[in-house]
Amino acid sequence: MSYNIAIDGPAGAGKSTIAKRIAKEKKFIYVDTGAMYRAMGLYFLRSGIGKEDQQQIGEKCKEADITISYVDGEQVVFLNGENVNGFIRTEEVGNMTSVCSTNPEVRKKLVELQQLLAKNADVVMDGRDIGTCVLPDADVKVYLTASSRVRAMRRYEELRARGESCDLAQIEKDIIERDERDMNREISPLRQAEDAVLVDSSEMDVDEVVEKIISLCR
Ligand code: DC
Repeated sequence: MSYNIAIDGPAGAGKSTIAKRIAKEKKFIYVDTGAMYRAMGLYFLRSGIGKEDQQQIGEKCKEADITISYVDGEQVVFLNGENVNGFIRTEEVGNMTSVCSTNPEVRKKLVELQQLLAKNADVVMDGRDIGTCVLPDADVKVYLTASSRVRAMRRYEELRARGESCDLAQIEKDIIERDERDMNREISPLRQAEDAVLVDSSEMDVDEVVEKIISLCR
């Protein structure tokens, strides 16, 4: 039997940073499910399908073959055989993804792939619906959050470090809007699973959060 750790939470809570660290310490595979949804979003953008065309999104997702593999411990996402890691982190792809990830056909396809990965290996998987829907029997479930102000500050500092100009108030507004959309969509909305442990990282650093989750595994 494989050992599965599920980490869910809102945008900017630090899920991927934490999940990567835990995967490294426990020698598990890190599965970034957001990257899979983003590869699907990229596919629709490239195909010229409109965000409002849910019927086309449901039909066309069957033609998008999404797989992942690991190079030097990093997850690489392939879209119809092409490594798309370098294309999925843009605002444009993020916006398309936020819309296409509400489509039931898209979710069905990616959830099946995620369940297969977790069945065959020990994984730390992060996303929005891992504890509630993808891996309801995960060994450890964490709902990782932080206040919208703290999440906006982290994002702001990340952008500043990259030399990009940004506005803290606008970033916080975007984060609140995205939470709203992720928590209120019809299928698999973001919420804390009943048996998930709530970890609020507003006043914790990365090491403390990692230690807390590792201690839950013991
Ligand atoms: O975590 P992220 O920012 O890379 O996620 C991108 C989008 O995908 C985000 O709008 C929410 C969606 N998503 C989802 O619906 N379910 C998941 N398990 C992971 C991400």
